[in-house]
Formats: sequence, structure tokens, C-alpha cells
Amino acid sequence: VSDLRTEVVFEGYDGPTAQGLLDVVRPVYGEVYAESPYCEGEAEVEGFAKGWERLVAAPGFRLVLARSAEEVVGFTFGYTLAPDTRWWAGALTQLSEHVTREYPGRTFAIIELAVRKPFRRRGIARELHRRLLEGGTAERVTLLVRPEPEAAAAWTAYATWGYAKVGQVRPGPDLPVYDAMVRPLPFEARRSAPPF
Ligand SMILES: CC(C)(COP(=O)(O)OP(=O)(O)OC[C@H]1O[C@@H](n2cnc3c(N)ncnc32)[C@H](O)[C@@H]1OP(=O)(O)O)[C@@H](O)C(=O)NCCC(=O)NCCS
Repeated sequence: VSDLRTEVVFEGYDGPTAQGLLDVVRPVYGEVYAESPYCEGEAEVEGFAKGWERLVAAPGFRLVLARSAEEVVGFTFGYTLAPDTRWWAGALTQLSEHVTREYPGRTFAIIELAVRKPFRRRGIARELHRRLLEGGTAERVTLLVRPEPEAAAAWTAYATWGYAKVGQVRPGPDLPVYDAMVRPLPFEARRSAPPF
């Protein structure tokens, strides 16, 4: 019996090697984030594309692609937060200094995680996430996710993978409210594999 998961191939990239991959990420980004609750249109996808060059130049940038029969069916990427990051600036609740204090190499931030609809519920996001963090050196991982009723699949996945909500953040005046989640990155996980 063929297991669909065996047909999916995962590829990891750092900033320089990811630079030329906008053309394969963009269509998946456009398709997935057109869905509710994101409802992004051409303008937002164009904004994403314009930001790619700067994004891949971020310190510690990593991208993982999932391909099925050569076609990209999912991706995830993130980077290490700088000590002067604005990541916590839009907090809507008082967050403790213990949560918001950044120092070099403390926190890896996951920026996007997306799997095309026909390929969901096969563990592809789980494997993308695992590979993104594999061999990383940060002490913890953070991400922003729309509140649970709006993004149930993502919220449930993150809770299942050990993330806990620390508060709510509005990253910009025109942006929606997100739950900020954090998960420690165990020392063993940081050492267990070489970075790609
Ligand atoms: C969130 C997303 C990436 C999950 O992708 P996926 O490949 O289907 O996820 P997996 O199969 O690896 O499932 C991981 C876990 O997510 C949870 N999950 C996934 N889909 C779910 C759903 N529809 N309802 C509830 N939980 C769900 C489950 O806990 C699941 O584990 P299980 O299937 O072993 O119980 C995908 O639904 C997606 O692209 N959504 C739109 C984009 C998005 O919201 N991205 C996150 C932005 S922060």
C-alpha cells in the first residue's frame, strides 16, 4: 500500500540558497493565504514577494520546502530574533521581562508555515516544523498565530507541538491581533543534528 507521505521530499535552505526560491514559494503562499481568515489578495502577495530579499538576509534564516512530484506543496521559514527586535513591541497585554528580553541567539521566530489544502492532515507541517528547528542553536522558538477560532488547524498543531500562549500581539496598526506562542528548544534538540 503506498503511503502518501513517502512521496513527499523535504529540502532545507539557508538565506543565500533560499534567495532564488521566491518563484516556487510565491504560488503556494498566494494559494494558502487566500484562505480564511487571512484572505490575502494580489497586493499582499506582492508585498510578500517584495520583502523576500530582505527576509532571506535575516540572521539565521532557514527555509524548508516540501515537494511532491517536484511540485512545492508546503513550506516554512523563520529567522533568529535580534536583541533589538520589535517582535514584542505590539503586545496588547503586559508581558514579563522574562518573556520579552532578547539577547543574541535566544529566540528563533517562525514566520510562516503553510501546506496546500489537498496535502493536509498527512503530517507534512509536522515534518516541516521538525526540520526547520533541527540543529538550530536558539534556546526557544516563538511564533504568532491567529486566535484559535480563526485558525484552528494551526493553533491545534502548535499546542500539540508544545507551544504555550504568552499573550497577544498586534504587530502593526493595520494588522490583526495574534496570539504569541513560545516553546523551549531542548538542548538535546539543538545538538542532535548538523544545520543544513
Ligand atoms: C496549519 C497547517 C500548516 C497544518 O498543515 P498539515 O500538514 O495539515 O498539518 P499536519 O498534518 O502535520 O498536522 C499537525 C497537527 O495539526 C493539527 N491539525 C491539523 N489540521 C487540523 C484541523 N483541521 N483541525 C484541528 N487540528 C488540526 C493536529 O493536531 C495535527 O496533528 P494530527 O493530525 O497528528 O492530530 C495547514 O492547515 C495550513 O497551511 N493552514 C493554513 C495556513 C496557516 O494557518 N498557517 C499557520 C500560520 S501561523
